[in-house]
Amino acid sequence: MKVLLTGANGQLGRCIQDRTPTDIDLIALTRAELDITDQVNVMTLCEKLKPDFIINAAAYTLVDKAESAPETAFAINVTGAENLAYAAAKLDIPIIHVSTDYVFDGTAITPYTPNCPTNPQSVYGQTKLDGENSIKAITSKHIIIRTAWVFSEYGNNFVKTMLRLGAERDELGIVADQVGCPTYAGDLAKCIFDFLVLIKSNATKAFGIYHFCGDEQVSWYEFASAIFDEAKTKKVVVNKPILKKLTTSEYPTPAKRPKYSVMKDSSPHVDYSDWQTALKNII
Ligand SMILES: NC(=O)c1ccc[n+]([C@@H]2O[C@H](COP(=O)([O-])OP(=O)(O)OC[C@H]3O[C@@H](n4cnc5c(N)ncnc54)[C@H](OP(=O)(O)O)[C@@H]3O)[C@@H](O)[C@H]2O)c1
Repeated sequence: MKVLLTGANGQLGRCIQDRTPTDIDLIALTRAELDITDQVNVMTLCEKLKPDFIINAAAYTLVDKAESAPETAFAINVTGAENLAYAAAKLDIPIIHVSTDYVFDGTAITPYTPNCPTNPQSVYGQTKLDGENSIKAITSKHIIIRTAWVFSEYGNNFVKTMLRLGAERDELGIVADQVGCPTYAGDLAKCIFDFLVLIKSNATKAFGIYHFCGDEQVSWYEFASAIFDEAKTKKVVVNKPILKKLTTSEYPTPAKRPKYSVMKDSSPHVDYSDWQTALKNII
């Protein structure tokens, strides 16, 4: 089975490469090797390589920067997703695409399921939703996985930011009134490979939108606290910095973030990410 992976240098892209089953021939392409915004190149390469699946791990993920660079975010998250969907449709192969909890507005009081109404509050969230909708319109052979608060040993993420700031400062202010479900990119990678197996065995029933995220909800403050507890235990930091709870209004950011970002998926195909165990392992 030949699988084409885009965004190979990202957190998810690298975790996918680390977990590729031996019976899969993974063609992992970085942005330099395949810019998904280049429609001609995407189609030409897909027709040449003839993959059995496309996994799109490429995205514009700079949530705050997207507010002042909406065209760039749109080009990657919408046009890029469309280009891959057109190629998948032309080759008549499935596409697995990754989206975000930021398609929701965060006003819910119970976990979001895939059918809940969307209402993005940021440019990033809007472009990710538009990307989902484009893929759905272009090909029925899609799996769209919404995930949240992704961290890993690779790239830039909240865990690494905390450890860096914790080494520089004795005291950190962390937002305590936004809750979500941290997700380990390695668990998401595993989930994606589970979907490949599922599609092979029962294709038509598998297609659709899913949620995949951590099994326990926390605030950013609680997430930071868990990170420093583990870092202290593992002697990665000498002292745990003093963590001060901030409200969202005390920590203004260009992009508005959902206050309640907890997702749930009742699908039998999807397990949750055990983010606490993953956090221990990567620290
Ligand atoms: N990170 C999160 O907290 C989070 C939360 C919810 C959902 N998600 C979604 O999860 C997925 C994976 O995210 P991630 O954390 O792995 O993101 P990431 O670490 O930022 O990786 C994204 C990758 O996409 C590549 N890329 C950007 N523009 C491209 C283009 N035009 N053509 C090809 N590749 C391009 C980037 O290349 P460079 O390496 O050259 O920059 C990068 O390697 C994304 O769909 C994201 O929206 C992430």
